[in-house]
Amino acid sequence: MSSQSDIVAVRLGVAKPSASIAAKARADAMRTAGREIIDFTVGEPDFPTPAYIVDAGVNALRQGHTRYTASAGTAELRTAIARKLMRENRLHYEANEIVVGCGAKQIIFNAFMASLNNGDEVIIPAPYWVSYPEMVLINGGVPKIVRCGAQDGFKIHATALERAITPRTKWLVLNSPNNPTGAVYSAADLRALGDVLHAHPHVHIMTDEIYEHFVYGGEKHVCLLNASPTLRSRTLLINGLSKSHAMTGWRIGYGAGQASLVNAIVLLITQSTTCAGAAAQAAAAVALDGPIKGVTDTTQMFESRRNRLVERLAQIDGIHCNTPNGAFYVFASVAGLIGRETRAGKLLETDVDVAEFLREEGGVVTIDGTSYGLSPFLRFSFAKPMSEIDRGCDAIAAAVSRLEPL
Ligand SMILES: Cc1ncc(COP(=O)(O)O)c(C=O)c1O
Repeated sequence: MSSQSDIVAVRLGVAKPSASIAAKARADAMRTAGREIIDFTVGEPDFPTPAYIVDAGVNALRQGHTRYTASAGTAELRTAIARKLMRENRLHYEANEIVVGCGAKQIIFNAFMASLNNGDEVIIPAPYWVSYPEMVLINGGVPKIVRCGAQDGFKIHATALERAITPRTKWLVLNSPNNPTGAVYSAADLRALGDVLHAHPHVHIMTDEIYEHFVYGGEKHVCLLNASPTLRSRTLLINGLSKSHAMTGWRIGYGAGQASLVNAIVLLITQSTTCAGAAAQAAAAVALDGPIKGVTDTTQMFESRRNRLVERLAQIDGIHCNTPNGAFYVFASVAGLIGRETRAGKLLETDVDVAEFLREEGGVVTIDGTSYGLSPFLRFSFAKPMSEIDRGCDAIAAAVSRLEPL
């Protein structure tokens, strides 16, 4: 007799659904139920794709870009990516070292699928983007989580990296600017990590730079390969247009790395999705060659929103945060709310409890730090209009003021 659950592979028993997608779904469901909510979970720019990119996509469709493309991505897009990497990152890649996917997410997933043997270890600094450990688990690997607290600037440092490496280590995942903390690795940080990695030639490095343009306060994004160029042959650089060009729904991301790994990823694409959408690829090529001004204007706008969110959160009793240097998230400590009690008599024991309390009491939706591998924190996105940030902070302050006095 087969039951419903027999259909699901044992392999999937190890994986959780994405916490950020689940939180967004919860926010949407509350809204549909008529509840007024303020949603701080957004993981994408809050404005549409710039018109010149949309026009490029529409024109591509009209011109007949309606068929399959090469599985690695069109030659036009791959050469536009190579130009971008040279122009913006001073990195030289040939087109055959670049693969285009349905979002950076597909490239990361396929890179793990293409490279992990059962039991291979992947070092993931926490807090981390929620999908890394799950992707590793689904593909038979073992996530080696290294906790990087606020005192470390939420970054992995050389000694912690050295300690985490074993003979089974296959990858180190670096993500700068970071989701969920906004931490940005400096050239010195990366050189120090590079020194450790040089001594361990079996370790590959995945560097996820999808937030590279969103860096604030005069900080600069530095690619690991600018700091440690000799790591190039074992580094897979991940990037995409979702965040930089407000193109999350177009699903275009890419990887650049050694040809043997890129070919293995392409093999998986040929046997799974065939290729990314043809018109989306045409639009992405135009976007990458387009004016950078749109992106820098967005960065300025995000910086003022970041400043407002940090300033407002700092005024709320029990919440504490440092100012993040990049991405569009604030990872705020709620240690000061743990142990408080609601008027209904519920004790706030974890950041999951705090997130639930703010959702139910204040109509404010955030994501708990537990989901990102570090507690007690909440992630707030500032990819939202200033007025919403203000309204959200007003609602949080009001909800917190209704907790039982200490
Ligand atoms: C750190 C990080 N990497 C990769 C991605 C995936 O982006 P996409 O698949 O839209 O290119 C995200 C999306 O939220 C992210 O936060």
